[in-house]
Amino acid sequence: MLEVIVRPNAAAAASYVHDLLVEHLVAHPRTVLGLPTGSSPLAVYAQLVESFRQGRIIFAGVRSFNLDEYYGLGADHPASYAAYMARALFDQVDCPRDQHHIPDGLTADPIAASAAYEAAIAAAGGIDFMLLGLGRNAHIGFNEPGAPFDSRTRLVTLTPSTIAANAPLFGPGQDIPAQAISMGIATIIAARRIVVLATGAAKAAAVRAVLNGPPISDVPGSALQLAGAVTFVLDPEAHGD
Ligand code: GLP
Repeated sequence: MLEVIVRPNAAAAASYVHDLLVEHLVAHPRTVLGLPTGSSPLAVYAQLVESFRQGRIIFAGVRSFNLDEYYGLGADHPASYAAYMARALFDQVDCPRDQHHIPDGLTADPIAASAAYEAAIAAAGGIDFMLLGLGRNAHIGFNEPGAPFDSRTRLVTLTPSTIAANAPLFGPGQDIPAQAISMGIATIIAARRIVVLATGAAKAAAVRAVLNGPPISDVPGSALQLAGAVTFVLDPEAHGD
């Protein structure tokens, strides 16, 4: 089942996603989450921290797996996704750090590290609730156009447009990695529930192709049509209204 929810603006879309997560965390305090980075989820994480402070949710029993990490960046690099997650969520809630997994951007053996990541997801029982953003070229995680629908966690090469889109998160003079370790499309769509948050006009073409086009590897997000339970939460600009 694929449902599309359009909220009046980006803030309302983020609040809607936050509310879905709170409902899920209250019902399933020992859940396994799949977590994204990027600018879209920041408002969701800020609201989750606030709900944690208010005592509405706890993270003590939650395990999580992040979608991806830049290859070559360690957790001490401010633009790494490990640093992003620490700032946005993990350092601000009650979660034991060993319950939260992010691909190791400094691994010397990406093949073995990717296989270990897949094994850890399987050992956790799979991902219950996967939150996703959507790249402007319809990528999910760092699965760029052409990524096979049966792909699993692996080392991937980023497109120039993705490198340019993510450049503002790097400081002046900082080299942006051209590779990443990302969950594969098969890893993502195996999640029991998937919520995609996409806002702004820059996402409209990607959203249209993902929702209305045929499921093809040139449009990585279109693989979500093949997943079990998917909710798109959009603002009017991303919906193309
Ligand atoms: C990065 C991440 C994706 C994310 C995308 C969109 O490329 N690897 O997981 O969905 O950015 O980010 P934003 O929300 O900033 O548009």
